[in-house]
Amino acid sequence: MDSVTATSKEAALAAAPGPDGLIEVRLTAIRLVARDTSLFEFQRIDGQPLPAYEPGAHIDLHLPNGLLRNYSLTSATPAPSTYTVGIKRDPASRGGSRFIHDELHVGTVLKIGGPRNNFRLREDAPHTVLFAGGIGITPIWCMVQRLNALGRDWRLHYACHSRDDMAFRQELEAMPQAALHFDAESGGFLDVAALVAASPKDAHLYCCGPAPMLAAFEAATKDWPREQVHVEYFTAKDLSPAKKGGFTVELARSGAEYFIPEGETILNVLLDAGIDIDYSCELGICGACEQRVISGIPEHRDSILSEEEQASNTRVMICCAGCRTDRLVLDL
Ligand code: FES
Repeated sequence: MDSVTATSKEAALAAAPGPDGLIEVRLTAIRLVARDTSLFEFQRIDGQPLPAYEPGAHIDLHLPNGLLRNYSLTSATPAPSTYTVGIKRDPASRGGSRFIHDELHVGTVLKIGGPRNNFRLREDAPHTVLFAGGIGITPIWCMVQRLNALGRDWRLHYACHSRDDMAFRQELEAMPQAALHFDAESGGFLDVAALVAASPKDAHLYCCGPAPMLAAFEAATKDWPREQVHVEYFTAKDLSPAKKGGFTVELARSGAEYFIPEGETILNVLLDAGIDIDYSCELGICGACEQRVISGIPEHRDSILSEEEQASNTRVMICCAGCRTDRLVLDL
């Protein structure tokens, strides 16, 4: 075994998560980058490298208050010793961003889940047009760094309420491909429809931002080829209750059956029954709870699967899905 192979194998082993699938990290730095928005940097407590990831990836933070929250990684580093996430303190927070800003400090040790990516960058696209609003810049900033390093053709339209709210402003002001928009100065929102219409027809389009921006983007891209349109949500797309009258979920590997009452989620019923299942956001936006469908027709409410993937009835996010049939059989 040569030394290069040995070193890379050791690095891969060191980057592997613990037996619970989680990685123990220490908060090593907090940097304010905009009003109410800070970058939080984490390193493994054993000093080993962290698993590699690609732009668009996010990690789960297992907070000391028992909550799980996922945040996009902001730095396009192929072999990271540090994970950096950008978090805005939301006054309406359910205990995630508020807790992180108010209670975490440099030196805090916590566990994280390894990176997952539902918002992949097509690095070979002839043109890339990125739309970001507010804290939605975090995965997009990672893409900007990567596209810049590759010398690809890209353009960014980034909107915030004011200059004080804009993270990475100084870096972006030095990039001619970045068009910065301030609602308070221009007297209106970014004209997403016009910018989409003006984009090259072979471009791949990406959007991460608040609900009004995502709605405008989805409306503007409805006639674009689906494979060229990429959206990342950080709030739930649909919070309507599960199928009226409930349904039964069968776990194929054990044969166990569980009734999901009206208004309950499959995830909650299975967790209450003591089934060990991965989950994180409980909003259909992170992909942690995805399960394989053996039979039955899920009523999808997630923001991860494409229309084609949802129609294929092969995968389901059980934190938010209902069921169109009386029975749903999962590969669990
Ligand atoms: S837990 Fe995040 S998609 Fe279900």
